[in-house]
Amino acid sequence: MLIVGNQKTYLNKNSVLAFINQTKDFKQDGVVICPSYLYIDLFCNNSNFVVGSQNVSENESSSMTGEITAGQLSSMNVKYCIVGHSERREYQREDTTMFVNKIKCLIKCNIIPIFCVGEQKIDKENNLTKDIVGKQILEVLSNFAGNDIKNIVIAYEPVWAIGTGLVPTNEEIIDVVNYIKDLISDKFGINLLVLYGGSVNKKNISLLNQISSIDGYLIGGASTKVDEFLYIVSECSK
Ligand code: PGA
Repeated sequence: MLIVGNQKTYLNKNSVLAFINQTKDFKQDGVVICPSYLYIDLFCNNSNFVVGSQNVSENESSSMTGEITAGQLSSMNVKYCIVGHSERREYQREDTTMFVNKIKCLIKCNIIPIFCVGEQKIDKENNLTKDIVGKQILEVLSNFAGNDIKNIVIAYEPVWAIGTGLVPTNEEIIDVVNYIKDLISDKFGINLLVLYGGSVNKKNISLLNQISSIDGYLIGGASTKVDEFLYIVSECSK
């Protein structure tokens, strides 16, 4: 099980220090925290969490003012990086070409990309979830050879579930996760890990955990609250 906390821009330095202090005895494989770039060093040096990044530059050049490259992340001991998150698709207008470039840079630096896909509410209402998710996946993965694809993790995050408290039914999640796994295995002959993300919290984790085909979770808001995050981790370890 892979549990990834995406702390987004929720925390400032003092709250990050408090989070690290309150989790200093925590040690468990497969639990990743993706802090803001600013706090990657703090997590790497003062906590036992595996550290991921929320973003990376799509260029590996050494003259990209204001960017952070995969090589730089790797030099900080970052092991994972989120790519294609719906907030970057929407607010930073990131697209498939950028996701492909970012994933290429990450793979070159041995950082595992966590590639996010998911439908909007309107797509779901029009029964287009699988069409949208399938297109998002194939447009990106078809740029890679099998050897590279096997290093990618997929996160299924319905856009309407992110930060809203709304979660699909277990049956709906099973349907999409199985579709993603079958699609990738049919096209590329590879079995990838598929995470679920979108309003995972302490109230719904035990129900979600009944889904055996989910390989883990991408957790936003709930990953910024120590008690809630550790509760979710302990539920996932059962
Ligand atoms: P949420 O965010 O858990 O707060 O819904 C998930 C995400 O954006 O990855």
